Amino acid sequence: MKMRDISESQRQFALLGGIFAAALVVSLIMGWILFPSLAYARKAQPINYNPPLHVEQIGITCDTCHFFYEDGSWAGIPTLETCVDCHSDIIGASPEEEKFVNEYVKKNREVKWALYVKQPECVSFSHSSHVRMAKIACETCHGPQGHSDPKDYLANRITNYSYVVYDPRVPLNAFTIIRDKGETVWGTMRMDECTACHRSRGTSTACFICHK
Ligand code: HEC
Ligand code: HEC
Ligand code: HEC
Ligand code: HEC
Ligand code: HEC
Repeated sequence: MKMRDISESQRQFALLGGIFAAALVVSLIMGWILFPSLAYARKAQPINYNPPLHVEQIGITCDTCHFFYEDGSWAGIPTLETCVDCHSDIIGASPEEEKFVNEYVKKNREVKWALYVKQPECVSFSHSSHVRMAKIACETCHGPQGHSDPKDYLANRITNYSYVVYDPRVPLNAFTIIRDKGETVWGTMRMDECTACHRSRGTSTACFICHK
């Protein structure tokens, strides 16, 4: 073989390698940064009710706002009725509270809260079985909710499964959004999370338990 042939094929090899590397970089950027920021819509709550202020500083327990009625049914998200015990009039100097009292309490208008926990219609879940019977702590399933201040709600435009971001310094990419559920990001509970716990506690994982 002649020297020229070798350097020719080496050059072609280097060129192909270069194209491959560039394509790899482009697809990594698309998959890790571009896709997550296109797939998720950012939503702000109509009012930031400031969970850690109420829970940590004022010392209101979770079950003051999220309680079971006497018949055992779950109240879920509190209505204005729960808030007016304290906020029938403006009690502090915060602009957020003023907005809440003037635009919702005084007008008797319910706040349309954005929720990231929501499961699809096909899933049946009851707080009564998990909180009252199995005695599982709220934090096991809801992580920092109530203890940290949610900054951003990210709703997946296709599936509607959502995330809440507690730390705005967390960059929005495939890693933080899809895998890093923890102190800074929390999201809708997935089927594998439900079944993992059921399995570990010897509870049934038959499809019909959760899908009626
Ligand atoms: C047990 C009394 C109590 C209840 C119940 C309560 N709050 Fe508050 N809330 C307070 C107090 C006290 C403050 C602090 C007021 C201040 O000094 O600025 C506050 C502050 C706020 C603020 C201002 C937050 C900020 O960061 O400035 C908002 C908004 C608010 N509450 C909304 C709500 C909503 C919505 C509910 C019902 C889901 C509710 N509160 C239920 C006592 C209560
Ligand atoms: C002062 C009333 C109040 C207290 C106390 C409170 N919450 Fe809430 N919670 C709310 C309101 C209002 C919302 C709807 C707005 C939101 O999601 O931020 C909510 C939403 C939630 C959600 C749904 C989040 C979502 O966006 O889908 C969870 C889960 C939750 N709270 C858990 C807790 C836990 C756990 C505690 C105790 C550590 C707690 N809450 C204490 C008022 C309260
Ligand atoms: C075993 C896991 C688990 C535990 C424990 C748990 N939750 Fe939930 N929670 C969920 C799931 C799943 C949803 C979504 C339900 C749906 O969309 O049908 C939810 C929804 C909520 C919501 C939104 C309104 C609603 O009911 O859909 C609030 C508020 C809430 N939880 C508060 C609490 C509080 C407060 C506690 C502790 C007393 C608690 N949760 C314990 C899993 C749990
Ligand atoms: C941290 C553990 C844990 C997680 C997470 C969990 N479960 Fe459960 N679940 C239990 C236990 C324990 C029981 C048995 C409760 C009892 O009846 O004593 C149970 C019972 C149930 C039941 C049967 C009782 C009933 O309400 O009819 C259903 C349905 C159910 N879970 C659905 C779900 C779904 C859906 C999810 C996820 C969104 C989920 N669970 C997540 C622990 C868990
Ligand atoms: C312990 C509760 C639980 C059990 C058991 C369970 N699922 Fe699910 N499943 C869920 C939850 C919660 C979701 C919604 C969250 C998600 O997509 O991960 C879901 C979602 C699904 C979806 C997607 C539906 C949609 O609208 O996105 C399918 C399909 C499904 N499950 C099939 C099954 C089959 C088949 C089985 C039995 C092998 C099964 N599930 C057992 C909790 C459960």
